[in-house]
Amino acid sequence: MTENLQVITCALFTLVTLPIETLVDSDSCPTVCECSEWKTYTISCFDIDVIPTFPASTDTLWLLETRLKSVPGDVFSNLVNISRM
Ligand SMILES: *[C@@H]1O[C@H](CO)[C@@H](O)[C@H](O)[C@H]1NC(C)=O
Repeated sequence: MTENLQVITCALFTLVTLPIETLVDSDSCPTVCECSEWKTYTISCFDIDVIPTFPASTDTLWLLETRLKSVPGDVFSNLVNISRM
């Protein structure tokens, strides 16, 4: 009985976590970033030393622990809906 419950819990967990991975298609989420909050168009990037290409519909962008020496002036120009950084 206990074993069956574990299998069910495991299956449910897989069902719950899978859609999060598929929310953002692989080429729109920068590989150095975390897009699990993409339902609110939020991207978090950690420890980056180059600015990746962000999806145009990005609304909130978190850049944490960056090691950027300079930021090209046009990297954010496609983010028409950016509201917070
Ligand atoms: C920006 O936001 C508007 C209004 O929510 C939306 O219609 C539009 O598609 C968004 N633009 C992009 C590039 O996602």
